[in-house]
Amino acid sequence: MRTRSLWDHTLTFFPQFLAAVEEQAAPGATVAIIGASDGKFVLPLAAAGYRVIAVERDPLALHGGEVHLPGDKRAHTTGLVDRLKLEAVYDRVQVVEEDFLQAEPLGMLCDAVWTSCSWHYSANHRSPLAEFVTRMQAMVRPGGLFGAEFMMPVEQRHHGIEHYTSPEKLRRHFIGDWDVLLTLRTNEFTERAHVGRLQDHTHRMGLLLAAHTPHSSCHQEKKDS
Ligand SMILES: C[S@@+](CC[C@H](N)C(=O)[O-])C[C@H]1O[C@@H](n2cnc3c(N)ncnc32)[C@H](O)[C@@H]1O
Repeated sequence: MRTRSLWDHTLTFFPQFLAAVEEQAAPGATVAIIGASDGKFVLPLAAAGYRVIAVERDPLALHGGEVHLPGDKRAHTTGLVDRLKLEAVYDRVQVVEEDFLQAEPLGMLCDAVWTSCSWHYSANHRSPLAEFVTRMQAMVRPGGLFGAEFMMPVEQRHHGIEHYTSPEKLRRHFIGDWDVLLTLRTNEFTERAHVGRLQDHTHRMGLLLAAHTPHSSCHQEKKDS
């Protein structure tokens, strides 16, 4: 790739999500990324031939500009839109410049939806975590995939904020029409400084992958017969 994301070096469970997408979705399927930032996940998906819907509310992440980097450096960053053009995948990506919690429904169902460490942002604390999760779930077609990696509590203040969650707590949102396929978690680890967090810092992360299975009553009938 000719361009790089500001988030390239941060830890991610995205390979686990991508493997599930490749296993379950047809080539050319549509994947939505909530909190797409400058395209760390959008670009590889588009380059692999998927159609991507990228939802992001931060104009700097989308359009680029000056950023403050670790080491008290300032640099010009290339935003998602220019990265898509430079990497020649712009025609495969629909960029939705909106707050996900305020956005109108897309009017279509996706084959998969993914978010990476987005819902713990303080602007999202005005709504319960359930609203973020339910909105993501509502985008997934029957048979489609839901994937989220998320921050778990580390500092004392995190324990009073439900958006710093755990795989066990998140699972409660996936009863009924969902099959949880995989949950993972890290121990505490040191993440190197990055844009927005200019010192090395401690994180704990979780992952939940689930499949939308809306015909659970049929499964139940089969099991019962
Ligand atoms: C930690 S960053 C993403 C880093 C990640 N490794 C990546 O590149 O996807 C999370 C992104 O989610 C976005 N975000 C958080 N809440 C959002 C919301 N309600 N609507 C749209 N974007 C949101 C933030 O603006 C930020 O760009």
